Amino acid sequence: MSSASAQPNRVDRAIVVARDRDNVVVAGEIVRHRRATRIIHWTVALTFLIGLLSGMPIWTPLFGWMAYLVGGMEVARVIHPYAGVAFVIASAFQFFHWLGDMHFASDEKDWWRPSRMARYMRWEDEASEEGGKYNGGQKLFFWAVCLGAVGFLVTGIPMWFPLRFPALLREIAIILHDVTFICFLIGVILHIYLGTAAEPGTFRAMTRGTVTRSWARLHHPGWFRKVTGESRDKRT
Ligand code: HEM
Repeated sequence: MSSASAQPNRVDRAIVVARDRDNVVVAGEIVRHRRATRIIHWTVALTFLIGLLSGMPIWTPLFGWMAYLVGGMEVARVIHPYAGVAFVIASAFQFFHWLGDMHFASDEKDWWRPSRMARYMRWEDEASEEGGKYNGGQKLFFWAVCLGAVGFLVTGIPMWFPLRFPALLREIAIILHDVTFICFLIGVILHIYLGTAAEPGTFRAMTRGTVTRSWARLHHPGWFRKVTGESRDKRT
């Protein structure tokens, strides 16, 4: 092997650094999510998917065909609560892992308003120069996921152990479990769209861990300046 081919190229270097460190510039790229973050995120996504595929056929016969993807209806009924518990545990890790970055800045407190979200979806919302690693919408989604995970757990237990709870409580739990699920599904579909097709360059942050400088400057200018140490007027 020649000495030139033994040298890791620029992209490889960034990927290697992204195993253990984030919020650093390496070889012209910025490490956004280190390996631990990505493993936690994909565990949350995978357990959610198994919970979804095993839960929807139990919910309504309309989605009965989904049971075939997990080995049939009997299997779906058995694995669903365990997938749910695994999802809640993974979400708890995610909660503590990301908590420090998820406090709302004073100009982000109106993100729960539909008008603010609509502005963002119509590309009319300028990225906040003072914002941190995540924007208000991402923070809102984070908190919704945490709340949803607690909701799934609390409403799932009476359905898992029906004989230990009064009938009325079980009925209420079923309704709240379904409502939580519907809200969750809408949020996750929107999240996947924003993380892939709508904002090119975002998905790789969760695969190889890095983003380009121009992506960071465009979507999270405050975080970009903090990580690179660049002033506001300097262009990449
Ligand atoms: C195929 C499915 C998914 C894709 C492609 C995806 C993609 C991504 C990407 C690219 C990011 C990083 C965004 C950034 O760095 O700015 C991210 C963050 C995040 N993901 Fe996912 N994700 C998926 C599924 C899920 C699921 C199922 C959940 C929760 C149930 C979830 C929860 C989160 C949260 C809380 C964040 C941090 C806040 C945010 O960026 O919105 N993700 N995801």
